[in-house]
Amino acid sequence: RRPDALPRDLVGRRVLVTAGGTREALDPVRYLGNRSSGKQGFAIALAAVARGAQVTVIAANTALAAPPGVTVVEVTDARDLQRQVQAHVGSADAVVMAAAVADFRPAAVVESKIKKQDGRGPAPIQLLTNPDILAELGAQRTGQRPVIVGFAAETGDENGSVLDHGRAKLARKGCDLLVVNRVGPGRAFEVEDNAATILAADGSEPVQVAFGPKIDLAAAICDLVAERLTRLDS
Ligand code: CTP
Ligand code: CA
Repeated sequence: RRPDALPRDLVGRRVLVTAGGTREALDPVRYLGNRSSGKQGFAIALAAVARGAQVTVIAANTALAAPPGVTVVEVTDARDLQRQVQAHVGSADAVVMAAAVADFRPAAVVESKIKKQDGRGPAPIQLLTNPDILAELGAQRTGQRPVIVGFAAETGDENGSVLDHGRAKLARKGCDLLVVNRVGPGRAFEVEDNAATILAADGSEPVQVAFGPKIDLAAAICDLVAERLTRLDS
Protein backbone atom coordinates (compact mmCIF):
# COMPACT_ATOMS: atom_id res chain seq x y z
CA ARG A 1 0.00 0.00 0.00
CA ARG A 2 1.24 3.53 -0.77
CA PRO A 3 1.76 5.62 2.38
CA ASP A 4 -0.92 8.13 1.28
CA ALA A 5 -3.38 5.28 0.81
CA LEU A 6 -2.96 4.08 4.40
CA PRO A 7 -5.91 4.34 6.73
CA ARG A 8 -5.37 6.90 9.51
CA ASP A 9 -7.11 4.61 11.95
CA LEU A 10 -4.57 4.79 14.78
CA VAL A 11 -4.55 8.57 15.27
CA GLY A 12 -4.44 9.36 18.98
CA ARG A 13 -3.60 5.77 19.93
CA ARG A 14 -0.49 4.83 21.87
CA VAL A 15 1.08 1.61 20.73
CA LEU A 16 3.84 -0.19 22.62
CA VAL A 17 5.85 -2.73 20.64
CA THR A 18 8.62 -5.04 21.85
CA ALA A 19 11.16 -6.18 19.29
CA GLY A 20 14.32 -8.23 18.99
CA GLY A 21 15.58 -10.96 21.25
CA THR A 22 16.74 -10.84 24.85
CA ARG A 23 20.26 -11.83 25.87
CA GLU A 24 20.84 -13.41 29.24
CA ALA A 25 24.34 -12.85 30.57
CA LEU A 26 26.51 -15.80 31.50
CA ASP A 27 29.72 -13.88 32.23
CA PRO A 28 31.03 -10.45 31.17
CA VAL A 29 31.47 -11.55 27.55
CA ARG A 30 28.89 -14.28 26.93
CA TYR A 31 25.15 -14.67 26.88
CA LEU A 32 22.31 -17.03 26.04
CA GLY A 33 20.35 -15.54 23.19
CA ASN A 34 18.21 -16.20 20.18
CA ARG A 35 18.14 -15.33 16.52
CA SER A 36 15.40 -12.69 16.46
CA SER A 37 16.51 -9.64 14.43
CA GLY A 38 13.71 -7.30 15.50
CA LYS A 39 12.61 -6.68 11.91
CA GLN A 40 9.03 -7.80 12.48
CA GLY A 41 8.64 -5.60 15.55
CA PHE A 42 10.12 -2.59 13.76
CA ALA A 43 7.83 -3.21 10.78
CA ILE A 44 4.86 -3.08 13.16
CA ALA A 45 6.15 0.18 14.65
CA LEU A 46 6.54 1.66 11.17
CA ALA A 47 3.06 0.56 10.11
CA ALA A 48 1.46 1.93 13.29
CA VAL A 49 3.22 5.30 13.11
CA ALA A 50 2.23 5.65 9.44
CA ARG A 51 -1.39 5.20 10.48
CA GLY A 52 -1.14 7.96 13.08
CA ALA A 53 -0.21 6.15 16.29
CA GLN A 54 2.29 7.33 18.90
CA VAL A 55 4.69 4.42 19.03
CA THR A 56 7.31 3.27 21.52
CA VAL A 57 9.50 0.28 20.74
CA ILE A 58 11.26 -1.58 23.52
CA ALA A 59 14.15 -3.01 21.51
CA ALA A 60 16.20 -5.94 22.73
CA ASN A 61 19.54 -6.18 20.94
CA THR A 62 18.39 -5.02 17.53
CA ALA A 63 20.75 -3.43 15.03
CA LEU A 64 18.03 -1.42 13.30
CA ALA A 65 17.54 2.31 12.84
CA ALA A 66 14.54 3.77 14.66
CA PRO A 67 11.77 4.57 12.15
CA PRO A 68 11.11 8.35 12.04
CA GLY A 69 8.69 9.40 14.74
CA VAL A 70 9.14 6.22 16.81
CA THR A 71 10.64 6.32 20.31
CA VAL A 72 13.07 3.45 20.91
CA VAL A 73 14.08 2.24 24.37
CA GLU A 74 16.93 -0.26 24.38
CA VAL A 75 17.08 -3.23 26.71
CA THR A 76 19.27 -6.30 27.06
CA ASP A 77 17.72 -9.11 29.06
CA ALA A 78 14.22 -10.34 29.87
CA ARG A 79 14.04 -8.56 33.21
CA ASP A 80 15.07 -5.24 31.61
CA LEU A 81 12.38 -5.78 29.02
CA GLN A 82 9.84 -6.53 31.74
CA ARG A 83 10.76 -3.32 33.62
CA GLN A 84 10.43 -1.17 30.51
CA VAL A 85 7.16 -2.77 29.45
CA GLN A 86 5.76 -2.15 32.92
CA ALA A 87 7.01 1.45 32.83
CA HIS A 88 5.22 2.13 29.53
CA VAL A 89 2.11 -0.05 29.55
CA GLY A 90 0.06 2.32 31.70
CA SER A 91 -0.54 4.76 28.88
CA ALA A 92 -0.73 2.20 26.06
CA ASP A 93 -3.88 1.47 24.06
CA ALA A 94 -2.23 -1.58 22.52
CA VAL A 95 0.81 -3.71 23.31
CA VAL A 96 2.40 -5.91 20.67
CA MET A 97 4.86 -8.44 22.08
CA ALA A 98 6.94 -9.24 19.03
CA ALA A 99 10.17 -9.72 21.00
CA ALA A 100 11.61 -13.19 21.46
CA VAL A 101 12.01 -13.34 25.23
CA ALA A 102 14.43 -15.94 26.56
CA ASP A 103 12.46 -18.43 28.62
CA PHE A 104 15.43 -19.07 30.92
CA ARG A 105 18.46 -17.21 32.24
CA PRO A 106 21.64 -18.40 33.91
CA ALA A 107 21.04 -18.66 37.65
CA ALA A 108 24.13 -16.54 38.31
CA VAL A 109 26.22 -14.20 36.22
CA VAL A 110 29.85 -15.22 36.68
CA GLU A 111 31.85 -12.09 37.56
CA SER A 112 34.94 -12.85 35.55
CA LYS A 113 35.28 -14.59 32.21
CA ILE A 114 34.66 -18.33 32.48
CA LYS A 115 37.90 -20.15 31.57
CA LYS A 116 38.49 -23.54 30.06
CA GLN A 117 39.90 -25.62 32.85
CA ASP A 118 42.74 -27.87 31.81
CA GLY A 119 41.52 -31.35 31.13
CA ARG A 120 38.20 -30.89 32.88
CA GLY A 121 35.04 -30.61 30.83
CA PRO A 122 32.67 -27.64 30.95
CA ALA A 123 30.71 -26.95 34.14
CA PRO A 124 26.93 -27.31 33.76
CA ILE A 125 24.92 -24.09 33.56
CA GLN A 126 22.05 -23.74 36.02
CA LEU A 127 19.04 -21.92 34.65
CA LEU A 128 16.12 -20.04 36.17
CA THR A 129 12.80 -19.33 34.49
CA ASN A 130 12.27 -15.75 33.32
CA PRO A 131 9.04 -13.87 34.03
CA ASP A 132 6.40 -14.35 31.33
CA ILE A 133 5.83 -10.72 30.38
CA LEU A 134 2.93 -11.37 28.02
CA ALA A 135 1.04 -13.56 30.48
CA GLU A 136 1.63 -10.92 33.16
CA LEU A 137 0.07 -8.22 30.92
CA GLY A 138 -2.97 -10.42 30.36
CA ALA A 139 -3.34 -11.20 34.06
CA GLN A 140 -2.97 -7.63 35.32
CA ARG A 141 -5.41 -6.02 32.89
CA THR A 142 -8.71 -5.14 34.52
CA GLY A 143 -10.74 -3.95 31.53
CA GLN A 144 -10.27 -4.61 27.83
CA ARG A 145 -7.47 -2.09 27.45
CA PRO A 146 -4.75 -2.30 26.34
CA VAL A 147 -5.42 -4.58 23.40
CA ILE A 148 -2.73 -7.27 23.80
CA VAL A 149 -1.07 -9.00 20.86
CA GLY A 150 1.28 -11.95 21.33
CA PHE A 151 3.46 -13.85 18.92
CA ALA A 152 4.11 -17.56 18.79
CA ALA A 153 6.66 -19.43 16.77
CA GLU A 154 5.53 -23.03 16.56
CA THR A 155 6.65 -26.16 14.75
CA GLY A 156 3.90 -28.60 15.63
CA ASP A 157 4.85 -31.92 17.25
CA GLU A 158 3.34 -35.18 18.48
CA ASN A 159 1.13 -33.20 20.88
CA GLY A 160 -0.55 -31.10 18.22
CA SER A 161 -0.36 -29.03 15.06
CA VAL A 162 0.99 -25.50 14.78
CA LEU A 163 -2.55 -24.14 15.22
CA ASP A 164 -3.38 -26.45 18.14
CA HIS A 165 -0.35 -25.08 19.98
CA GLY A 166 -1.33 -21.54 18.93
CA ARG A 167 -4.88 -21.84 20.26
CA ALA A 168 -3.64 -23.25 23.57
CA LYS A 169 -1.10 -20.44 23.87
CA LEU A 170 -3.70 -17.74 23.11
CA ALA A 171 -5.84 -19.03 25.99
CA ARG A 172 -2.89 -19.49 28.35
CA LYS A 173 -1.48 -16.01 27.79
CA GLY A 174 -4.78 -14.14 28.05
CA CYS A 175 -4.08 -12.02 24.97
CA ASP A 176 -6.59 -10.73 22.41
CA LEU A 177 -4.65 -11.71 19.30
CA LEU A 178 -1.89 -14.25 18.74
CA VAL A 179 0.24 -14.11 15.62
CA VAL A 180 1.26 -17.68 14.92
CA ASN A 181 4.32 -18.30 12.76
CA ARG A 182 5.23 -21.71 11.49
CA VAL A 183 8.95 -22.03 12.08
CA GLY A 184 11.54 -24.29 10.58
CA PRO A 185 14.51 -23.98 8.25
CA GLY A 186 14.39 -20.69 6.34
CA ARG A 187 11.25 -19.47 8.08
CA ALA A 188 10.60 -16.41 10.25
CA PHE A 189 14.01 -15.76 11.80
CA GLU A 190 16.55 -13.52 10.07
CA VAL A 191 14.53 -13.44 6.87
CA GLU A 192 12.74 -10.61 5.07
CA ASP A 193 9.45 -12.41 4.52
CA ASN A 194 6.98 -13.97 6.85
CA ALA A 195 3.63 -15.74 6.81
CA ALA A 196 1.27 -16.14 9.73
CA THR A 197 -2.14 -17.01 11.03
CA ILE A 198 -3.59 -14.47 13.45
CA LEU A 199 -5.84 -16.07 16.06
CA ALA A 200 -8.38 -14.02 18.00
CA ALA A 201 -9.70 -14.60 21.52
CA ASP A 202 -13.11 -13.09 20.69
CA GLY A 203 -14.09 -16.04 18.53
CA SER A 204 -13.70 -14.24 15.21
CA GLU A 205 -12.24 -16.22 12.33
CA PRO A 206 -8.45 -16.58 12.14
CA VAL A 207 -6.82 -14.23 9.63
CA GLN A 208 -4.33 -15.81 7.24
CA VAL A 209 -1.50 -13.60 6.07
CA ALA A 210 0.24 -15.00 3.00
CA PHE A 211 4.01 -15.31 2.74
CA GLY A 212 5.33 -11.84 1.96
CA PRO A 213 7.21 -8.83 3.36
CA LYS A 214 7.06 -8.30 7.13
CA ILE A 215 5.37 -4.93 6.53
CA ASP A 216 2.32 -6.80 5.12
CA LEU A 217 1.98 -8.83 8.30
CA ALA A 218 2.47 -5.58 10.26
CA ALA A 219 -0.41 -3.98 8.33
CA ALA A 220 -2.69 -6.94 9.04
CA ILE A 221 -1.90 -6.69 12.77
CA CYS A 222 -2.60 -2.92 12.72
CA ASP A 223 -5.96 -3.56 10.96
CA LEU A 224 -7.07 -5.90 13.73
CA VAL A 225 -5.78 -3.67 16.55
CA ALA A 226 -7.45 -0.55 15.09
CA GLU A 227 -10.72 -2.45 14.64
CA ARG A 228 -10.69 -3.59 18.26
CA LEU A 229 -9.87 -0.13 19.62
CA THR A 230 -12.72 1.37 17.58
CA ARG A 231 -15.06 -1.28 18.96
CA LEU A 232 -13.95 -0.47 22.55
CA ASP A 233 -14.80 3.22 22.01
CA SER A 234 -18.34 2.53 20.83
N1 CTP B 1 6.88 -14.03 26.04
C1 CTP B 1 7.00 -13.20 27.12
N2 CTP B 1 7.79 -13.56 28.18
C2 CTP B 1 8.45 -14.73 28.17
C3 CTP B 1 8.33 -15.61 27.06
C4 CTP B 1 7.53 -15.22 26.01
O1 CTP B 1 6.38 -12.14 27.14
N3 CTP B 1 9.19 -15.06 29.20
C5 CTP B 1 5.99 -13.63 24.93
C6 CTP B 1 6.66 -13.45 23.59
O2 CTP B 1 7.04 -12.10 23.40
C7 CTP B 1 5.56 -13.85 22.61
C8 CTP B 1 4.74 -14.85 23.39
O3 CTP B 1 5.06 -14.65 24.77
O4 CTP B 1 4.72 -12.76 22.28
C9 CTP B 1 4.92 -16.27 23.05
O5 CTP B 1 6.25 -16.65 23.17
P1 CTP B 1 6.61 -18.17 23.06
O6 CTP B 1 8.06 -18.37 23.27
O7 CTP B 1 5.98 -18.71 21.80
O8 CTP B 1 5.75 -18.75 24.30
P2 CTP B 1 6.15 -19.52 25.60
O9 CTP B 1 5.05 -19.29 26.57
O10 CTP B 1 7.52 -19.16 26.04
O11 CTP B 1 6.05 -21.03 25.16
P3 CTP B 1 7.14 -22.06 24.53
O12 CTP B 1 7.29 -23.10 25.58
O13 CTP B 1 6.46 -22.55 23.28
O14 CTP B 1 8.41 -21.31 24.24
CA1 CA C 1 9.41 -19.31 24.71
